[in-house]
Amino acid sequence: MQIGIPTETIADEYRVAATPETVKKLTSAGHQVVIQRGAGIKAAYVDSAYEQAGATMTDNAYQGSQLILKIRAPQGDEIAQIESGASVVASFDPYRNPELDRFATQNISAFALELLPRTLSRAQNMDVLSSQANLAGYKSVLLAANEYQSLFPMLMTAAGTVKPARVVIMGVGVAGLQAIATAKRLGAVVEATDLRPTAKEQVESLGGKWLDVPMSPEEQARADEAAKNGYGWTPGEQYIQDQAAIVDKAVANADIVVTTALLPGRNAPRLIHGATVAKMKPGSVILDMAVETGGNVEGSVVGETVMTENGVKILGIPNIPSTVATEASALYARNIFNFIDTLFDENKNVKINLEDEIQKALLVTHGGEVLLKRG
Ligand code: NAI
Repeated sequence: MQIGIPTETIADEYRVAATPETVKKLTSAGHQVVIQRGAGIKAAYVDSAYEQAGATMTDNAYQGSQLILKIRAPQGDEIAQIESGASVVASFDPYRNPELDRFATQNISAFALELLPRTLSRAQNMDVLSSQANLAGYKSVLLAANEYQSLFPMLMTAAGTVKPARVVIMGVGVAGLQAIATAKRLGAVVEATDLRPTAKEQVESLGGKWLDVPMSPEEQARADEAAKNGYGWTPGEQYIQDQAAIVDKAVANADIVVTTALLPGRNAPRLIHGATVAKMKPGSVILDMAVETGGNVEGSVVGETVMTENGVKILGIPNIPSTVATEASALYARNIFNFIDTLFDENKNVKINLEDEIQKALLVTHGGEVLLKRG
């Protein structure tokens, strides 16, 4: 059976879905792997390295492939090139993807990696949301630091003392925790908050200060229930107001703010309002990691650096994992390898098992139908 790795077509997508390491594992297991010429070059994986790993380079990795591996879902003309009956494994952005019915019509089985049941322990090494968010959290702090016209660490110099930067991290999931760790390593003073009360301990263990938003007993019970699945809960009006007041104070005093709050399958929550940005010092930098799904910060724009009237820069950098494409691809490719390894039968063909909890959760089109239920 042939496995195809096409070049990513979306602008500024530098990652690639297979690396020489994962290709070697596939070819050693007896699979035939075809890779579009140049598919890995932007992530520093050259064609010769893939060839050494046993792959064949081609101009069209869709042709003849029964399994397609991609970072982003194929779109437009790419879909037309996929063979009927083939399977595609990628990040499909399933709740917002307008082309799922095309995959169904072409009898393609589409596996959306974002739908992984993350709390299953055997799924953890397949979790692209975690692997990519981790790297994005690290890089977000460096990107913000690069735009900040001052320093992160405290320095004692003959010309006087440089004060450490005050950093606020909003949303302390996988990305936020790595952002805290990175900002601390650079010497900043860090404060952070999250809907999930369990994040407090993690923030403090990294040397950050927890920004506590009071919760009613009823809210605490809902938060505890949601925490069983690892996720936040839907906050009520009182919590949102209290959080806004606490955030307003912390953000007004911050030099750097990184927001990471996402809601699976929905638009990101608005956490920082224009009135709070207006209180910040000139030269402060906000990086909105949720900018592609509506934004946590009022005024952030995808792909732009907005300079506010009071001299605050709001960075709307999309797809941060692509800015660390070498390592992001390495982790993503391992996640994909670990997932597809569950798909093969003894003859090394794809055999979809609808009884398998993970395969079933990821499958958004199969047998000519769109399986995903959109709310
Ligand atoms: P995410 O990327 O969906 O969201 C980032 C963070 O934003 C979350 O911590 C969320 O609680 C927070 N957030 C959302 N709305 C907010 C609001 N209005 N105010 C403040 N914060 C808000 O989440 P991520 O990083 O993908 O995962 C979140 C958590 O899920 C992890 O920290 C972990 O506890 C759990 N998880 C568990 C896994 C497992 O059990 N294997 C695997 C991956 C994640």
